[in-house]
Amino acid sequence: MNGFKEPGMRKVGSYSSMADGDDLDLSRLPDRPKLPIERQRSCDERSMNELSINVRGLESFDSLYSPGGMRSGFSTPASTARNPFEPHPIIAEAWEALRRSIVYFKGEPVGTIAAYDHASEEVLNYDQVFVRDFVPSALAFLMNGEPEMVKNFLLKTLYLQGWEKRIDRFKLGEGVMPASFKVLHDPVRKTDTLVADFGESAIGRVAPVDSGFWWIILLRAYTKSTGDSSLAESPECQKGIRLILTLCLSEGFDTFPTLLCADGCSMIDRRMGIYGYPIEIQALFFMALRCALTMLKHDSEGKEFVERIVKRLHALSYHMRTYFWLDFQQLNDIYRYKTEEYSHTAVNKFNVIPDSIPDWVFDFMPTRGGYFIGNVSPARMDFRWFALGNCVAILSSLATPEQSMAVMDLIEERWEELVGEMPLKVTYPAIESHEWRIVTGCDPKNTRWSYHNGGSWPVLLWLLTAACIKTGRPQIARRAIELAESRLLKDSWPEYYDGKLGRYIGKQARKFQTWSIAGYLVSKMMLEDPSHLGMVSLEEDKAMKPLIKRSASWTCPEISLDMIL
Ligand code: GLC
Repeated sequence: MNGFKEPGMRKVGSYSSMADGDDLDLSRLPDRPKLPIERQRSCDERSMNELSINVRGLESFDSLYSPGGMRSGFSTPASTARNPFEPHPIIAEAWEALRRSIVYFKGEPVGTIAAYDHASEEVLNYDQVFVRDFVPSALAFLMNGEPEMVKNFLLKTLYLQGWEKRIDRFKLGEGVMPASFKVLHDPVRKTDTLVADFGESAIGRVAPVDSGFWWIILLRAYTKSTGDSSLAESPECQKGIRLILTLCLSEGFDTFPTLLCADGCSMIDRRMGIYGYPIEIQALFFMALRCALTMLKHDSEGKEFVERIVKRLHALSYHMRTYFWLDFQQLNDIYRYKTEEYSHTAVNKFNVIPDSIPDWVFDFMPTRGGYFIGNVSPARMDFRWFALGNCVAILSSLATPEQSMAVMDLIEERWEELVGEMPLKVTYPAIESHEWRIVTGCDPKNTRWSYHNGGSWPVLLWLLTAACIKTGRPQIARRAIELAESRLLKDSWPEYYDGKLGRYIGKQARKFQTWSIAGYLVSKMMLEDPSHLGMVSLEEDKAMKPLIKRSASWTCPEISLDMIL
């Protein structure tokens, strides 16, 4: 752990100018510092054959991996400009707790464990490095000018992606990234071994569809933050990106550009009725595609992917902005939908029966504001609010600027429901009684207003803060951060809170949950220096087609649209 710099504070107040100006024009923000990247000794991971999972060799990996080094005397803005006033006392404690969670492989930091909760009797898999959990940790270290661990992590997970993965007799797709990994230390033989979980050990055996997307998003964040494009441009990373894309761009029986998913395939990794086309995954999918586009080389192998991504992005943004978007007007339209409309001219494309609209949504929907609903598929609209998907939609510019503003309006208008006393509800509202029985399979962890079922997750604070900065509404983030600050340290950084207002520490919440700690730090650093936003945000792509009339979405080569409209 030595060798790391002490975190510092930047001057507060630089974001106000952003709020007034062009929120999306990040090019006007100061460039992030560039770091010199040195190639050093290669890494030996031969102990892989001790694992139960077959290992495929990853040629030339050694030449790429460069552990060590980089603890240069580089000082980030964060470490030079200490706040002359008073940094919040919990910041130092948070950094200390975050550093305690670092995991080492052969002496090099490679990630952070999910929770460092010694008080808890059950460790389960919280002693592992989860790909999705590491993202806020990685951002915190990048923002603090410590990219080394992030690079190591990206390479380690890339290496794990290369494994041959089997569950029972079934071989998983080549590009799948693990949900998590663990380092086994053998003190006698003095070896470190990596063990990965691709969903085969996870409770419920859920495959992490989000892992690969987070990996691509993090690779771009690393590149943006350090200015070092050599990692992303390396043949190994290019291949890693292509493998992930091969999995998610493959053609199946789908009639939609969205990605078909099983329940529990994201942060919400238990049965919660999010199977189908969950917003959480669609937004990450969109963001990962856009990030990949900025990093893929236009060489013989990359070119084809670039073309496929561009086409998919167009279709996906149209689909999401049109069919997933809900505001007062749209709700009223759905309420008045006719059903059983045959042919491509149908207005009610998915044959949603208005009676299936839940009562709560009529009261919940403000006149001002809107959001991307949880899921859309034939005769099924899941009207629940999902925080991660909506924030990522804003950050990736899947949401139009107007939609982004409307999401922020909704958060303000429905503060009590969506934020309450602890930011931020992962979903809203909770499902109860009979519905809970059917949807969750009687899951005792996901009872109403707990855990994934309407629980409040402090980690989501960083996503909210980023979305606030992007939309020029930092005051919303400040309000949320203040709420978190009043409880998090005192409560020992719980994983989640329970209750309608998020007032109670979660029934089975871990303490010292790393992403609760890192999420808080990232929020603070982003507010202090909004130029960090560029790492996790993409400007609107002006080439993306604006919304067109619903009934005009259908095209067929033989019939022109004029003939059918
Ligand atoms: C829980 C969460 C999941 C997280 C994991 C580790 O399973 O649902 O999102 O990655 O814990 O913290």
